[in-house]
Amino acid sequence: MTDKAKIYEGLLPNVKAIIGGSGSREKKLQRICDLLRGEVPYFDWVGFYLTDAENPDDLVLGPFNGAPTEHVRISVGTGICGRAAHTRRMFVVQDVSKETNYLACSPDVKAEIVLPILIGNRVWGELDIDSHTLAPFSSEDGEFLGKICSLVADLARAGG
Ligand code: SME
Repeated sequence: MTDKAKIYEGLLPNVKAIIGGSGSREKKLQRICDLLRGEVPYFDWVGFYLTDAENPDDLVLGPFNGAPTEHVRISVGTGICGRAAHTRRMFVVQDVSKETNYLACSPDVKAEIVLPILIGNRVWGELDIDSHTLAPFSSEDGEFLGKICSLVADLARAGG
């Protein structure tokens, strides 16, 4: 088993415990951000963007762990987050310097992965992770983070 797989195998039960535990949805999302940022060495910013209920063409910054960002509202189609929302698919950028449609948060960020959190066909929100390491993401990251997004979608669907 790779080191990554070991980290992720250990983390998944903790994520499930957070989701099934007590507290508001916002607190749970915050705890997931704190856990992921704390445990995965190449995750330097971990946050959720949530679709604005009143304007579904906008994503609004939710709980996060990392440096504050000016990008608190992102239009669907703009940047990496907005494009992941538009396509409703995971978007992995191993080198952000090669992206033209990119909203920079900090010059330290080298790579980014964004996964939509889907309820049916609708983008409920997104999990967004920035890394200060170039090309840190592999299929294992996508697989594990996809599982987290499914668990968060279950929580959102249940109104939790
Ligand atoms: N880089 C993102 C903006 C959000 S920050 O990474 C926190 C983008 O291009 O959509």
